[in-house]
Amino acid sequence: RNSKRQIECRRDIDRLNARFLGIYESLIPPDEEKVKQKQLVTLLKKLVIKEWPEAELYIYGSCGNSFGVSKSDIDVCLAIEDLDVNKSEVLLKLADILQSDNLQNVQALTRARVPIVKLMDPVTGISCDICINNLLAVVNTKLLRDYAKIDARLRQLAFIVKHWAKSRGVNETYRGTLSSYAYVLMCIHFLQQRKPAILPCLQLVPCQGMEITYAVTVDNVECAYFDQVEKLSSFGSRNKESIAQLVWAFFNYWAYWHDYANDVLSVRTGSVLSKRGKDWTRRIGNDRHLICIEDPFETSHDLGRVVDKFSIRVLREEFERAAEIMQYDPDPCVTLFEPY
Ligand code: CTP
Ligand code: MG
Repeated sequence: RNSKRQIECRRDIDRLNARFLGIYESLIPPDEEKVKQKQLVTLLKKLVIKEWPEAELYIYGSCGNSFGVSKSDIDVCLAIEDLDVNKSEVLLKLADILQSDNLQNVQALTRARVPIVKLMDPVTGISCDICINNLLAVVNTKLLRDYAKIDARLRQLAFIVKHWAKSRGVNETYRGTLSSYAYVLMCIHFLQQRKPAILPCLQLVPCQGMEITYAVTVDNVECAYFDQVEKLSSFGSRNKESIAQLVWAFFNYWAYWHDYANDVLSVRTGSVLSKRGKDWTRRIGNDRHLICIEDPFETSHDLGRVVDKFSIRVLREEFERAAEIMQYDPDPCVTLFEPY
């Protein structure tokens, strides 16, 4: 009887895995969408080069880090060497150029926290935000993309978590919940912590046969890590956990095990640091540090700083809801993503 029960249990887990993988696959952008994104960026490059021959255009954010779902906007960074460029002037000039090339809804938002030009390509319907000289974002985009190449379960877990966060309304930084970037870092850190580990720590080098193979200094921040990730393709193979188990454990961790009062998540070190060590124990300005996620390169930057005393409750209640569903719900794949 025992073994019969075990077989049934195994079947339930297999079925749940298949459901999660189905959701993951349905979220992946189809190849033709990727082609259209590339075409739009090629067009933008052509226009930009005419005005600024020395400039470069980089894709960052979800279209560049491999964590983008279908129909995402493209985030683009215009890199201009000239150190004292006036960003507002460049953005207004850029908006002018784009407008006269039939791109639609062109808007320069020069007063935003990150000033950008927004636009829509009428041919493909793709929207795009262009910012100036945000090179740290380009570098952290590469880091995320490199982590994704090591073990397929990272991309699967992050797609599920992002889909959950969007469905439940907890992926809105302007309302005090977390950015997609923060959720992906939470997933990387979680997989670094599994026993056996599913992901290594690429910045903790030299270690485990890894050394620095990529190094740039951007805005006085040194960004260095091991980026020959094709050599790590079997890193996580000793860990056999499936996506359903990982989703369960992820929410369980954030609902019941994370020490919100003392801990800082650090992908950079592949460990948990103390708030005390980072002097993140009290509110400074608008940074409350109620949930702490260290940026892998800008280490003084807490990605949880947008969270306030109201939204932390919303967030933790959502983690608990998700954990309960994963534990008890007979059909978690429906309930988990129910619109809030
Ligand atoms: N970014 C950052 N610091 C932050 C937030 C974002 O450096 N505090 C950068 C990251 O490079 C990130 C990019 O801005 O990849 C876009 O951020 P975000 O909109 O959170 O993520 P996307 O991956 O674009 O997610 P979505 O699919 O929701 O568009
Ligand atoms: Mg984006």
